[in-house]
Amino acid sequence: MSTTASQPVKTVAEFPAAAAEFKDAIRKIVRSHAVNELYGAQVFDEPAISFAPTPYAKWLTCRVAMEEYGHHVRFRELGEQIGIPAAELVPGEKKPLSIFAFPLATWEEFCVIKLLADLAEILQVEDLLQCTFHPLRNLARMTMPEERFHAQFGRDFCVELCRTPEGRAKVQDAINRYFPLLPAFFGASGSRNNATFRRLGIKQRRNEEMRADYLERARVLVEDELKLTLPEIAGTA
Ligand SMILES: [Fe+2]
Ligand SMILES: [Fe+2]
Repeated sequence: MSTTASQPVKTVAEFPAAAAEFKDAIRKIVRSHAVNELYGAQVFDEPAISFAPTPYAKWLTCRVAMEEYGHHVRFRELGEQIGIPAAELVPGEKKPLSIFAFPLATWEEFCVIKLLADLAEILQVEDLLQCTFHPLRNLARMTMPEERFHAQFGRDFCVELCRTPEGRAKVQDAINRYFPLLPAFFGASGSRNNATFRRLGIKQRRNEEMRADYLERARVLVEDELKLTLPEIAGTA
């Protein structure tokens, strides 16, 4: 019996009987989340603890780092339950995503990463909220409030930094250097993987639709709320 969008897989126990195509697709998504959550925590959230300027900021940054490691742990546990080899659930030989190819050096950069990269993550997690594999849907539901907190953390600290001319200039500079990495995070337009995910009811939206939605939400945050400028990105319209 094959699995279609109208036949949800409700438990991990039902997973082995699902269609091979469905199992491959789910494993691909769980693997990428497990790897990326750990990679992000290692290169951004944990190092940021030392940049946090006050005890309160440090405490909140520790909480963000703890939650990002926690996301990795949750996705890794699900990955192990659905038969993904342990070595594939941690960063390995595969080149990390371009959003991680940014050497974090300042507190302002970290605040901008939380503002903009965690917003991108929110869109990805939102797309899994109706997923036909219920264990993954449930995991997305648990993760969502924490990702919202991370994006809010970025927004609140960016607002605070923008109260001084130097802080404002540093936030703008970090946006100019980091934002261009983000549109690619949504994957290629016309992606075949994405078409499969949608056909199987695992994902809801096309990569290009998510990217356009993201660019608009980022524009509202940066231009309308922070009164800063979002750099023009070629080829993302
Ligand atoms: Fe996360
Ligand atoms: Fe996050």
